[in-house]
Amino acid sequence: MKAAILRAAREPLSIETVELDGPRADEVRIRVAASGLCHSDYHVISGDLGSDFPIVLGHEASGVVEAVGSDVRGLTHGDHVVTCTSIFCGHCSECQDGLNHLCSDKPVRAQPQLNSPIRQNGLPVQQFCNLGAFAEEMVVHRSGVVKLPKAMPLDVAAVLGCAVLTGIGSVTAGAEVKPGSKVVVLGCGGVGLNVVQGARLAGAAQIVAVDLNPAKLALAQVFGATDTILGGEGVVERVIEATGGGADYAFEVVGLPALQRQGFMMLRKRGTLMIVGITEMSAELSVPALMLLGREIRIIGSNMGSVPFQRVIPTYAQLYLDGRLTLDPLISQRIVLEDINRGYEQLIAGETARSVIVFN
Ligand SMILES: NC(=O)c1ccc[n+]([C@@H]2O[C@H](COP(=O)([O-])OP(=O)(O)OC[C@H]3O[C@@H](n4cnc5c(N)ncnc54)[C@H](O)[C@@H]3O)[C@@H](O)[C@H]2O)c1
Ligand SMILES: [Zn+2]
Ligand SMILES: [Zn+2]
Repeated sequence: MKAAILRAAREPLSIETVELDGPRADEVRIRVAASGLCHSDYHVISGDLGSDFPIVLGHEASGVVEAVGSDVRGLTHGDHVVTCTSIFCGHCSECQDGLNHLCSDKPVRAQPQLNSPIRQNGLPVQQFCNLGAFAEEMVVHRSGVVKLPKAMPLDVAAVLGCAVLTGIGSVTAGAEVKPGSKVVVLGCGGVGLNVVQGARLAGAAQIVAVDLNPAKLALAQVFGATDTILGGEGVVERVIEATGGGADYAFEVVGLPALQRQGFMMLRKRGTLMIVGITEMSAELSVPALMLLGREIRIIGSNMGSVPFQRVIPTYAQLYLDGRLTLDPLISQRIVLEDINRGYEQLIAGETARSVIVFN
C-alpha cells in the first residue's frame, strides 16, 4: 500500500510503498477513506516533538473496515468507522475512573517500535499515535475504533477523530464551561474553531476569537464567535476591555508559552486557563504566582478532548446530520496523498483550517 513517510525532522514526506501486517486477534484493519492534516503531525515534521524514524504520521481518519481479528466484537467488514489515538485498556485506574483518554496501560503491540504493523522490506516503520493515517490502510487496536452511522459522509467524518473531539471536548468535558460565561479562544485553526463551536454548544454568552490571521477570524464567526480580535500587540488589554474586565475561560490552542501566559493574564478572578495547544518538548509555562492565588485562577490541560471518544463521536456525527454541528466550513480543501507536503505548507501559512486527504 501507499503511505506518506517521514524519514527525518524538517524533511518533506515521501510517498512510498509499505507492507501492513495484521489484523491480530484484537485489531481492526481499515481501508482509509479520509485523513485530516492536524498541526500535531506537523510538530513531528518540524522537530518540536521527538520521534523515531521512519514514521507514517496521520491520526485524524475515517475509513471502512476491511477485516477484524478473532477477538473483535461489534465491528464487521464494511462498517464505516472513525479512529482515535485514545486507545484504552478498560482496567487501569484511569480507565476505571472513566478517563479512557488517559489510559496508562494502552493495549498496543508489545514493543511497538519493533513490532509496528507497518513494515518496509521487513523493517519496522513507526505508526504515529498507534494509527499512521497517512496511508491507504491502517491496522488499529479495537479500542481505537468507533462505528459511524452510514449516513455520515466519510470525508467529513475524518475531522471528528481529532479536531472536533479535541476542540468540543476541551470545552464540555475539560473546562466544563458554564452557560452564560465569557470564553476567549487563542488560535482559531482546525482545533480552535471547534473550541469556538464547543463554547457555542455549551451556551457561552460571549465567545472572543483571537488569531493573527483575519481569514481565521471570519471563519470563527461562522462557528459561533461573538467578537473577534486580531492577535499580537496589546491583545491582553483588548480582551479585558472586550469582556468588560476579563474572561471566565481562556483556551490556548496554538502551543506557545507566551500566548499561554497572555491567556492567564486576561482572566477574571476564578477564571480558567485551558491548555490545548502542544508546545515543543522543553517548553515551560511561567505565570505570576501571587496572581494565581490572589485571583484563584485555575490552569488545566486537555488531552484529546478529555472524553471517551467511542461515546461522543457517534453523537457528534448525529448532531452534524441533524444540522446542529458545523463541519463543512472546517474542510478548506480535499486533496490527494501526493499533495500532503503542499497541504502542510498551506496549514503553516494559515491558508487552510483543515485539508483532508481523500483516498479512492
Ligand atoms: N491537546 C490535544 O489533545 C491536541 C489535539 C490536537 C491538536 N492539538 C494542538 O493544538 C494546536 C492547534 O492545532 P490546529 O490543528 O488547530 O493548528 P492550526 O495550525 O490549524 O491552527 C493554529 C492557529 O493559531 C493561529 N496562531 C498562531 N500564532 C498565534 C498567536 N500568537 N496568536 C493567535 N493565534 C495564533 C494560526 O493563525 C492558526 O489559525 C496545535 O499545537 C496542535 O498540535 C492538541
Ligand atoms: Zn490532531
Ligand atoms: Zn486503561
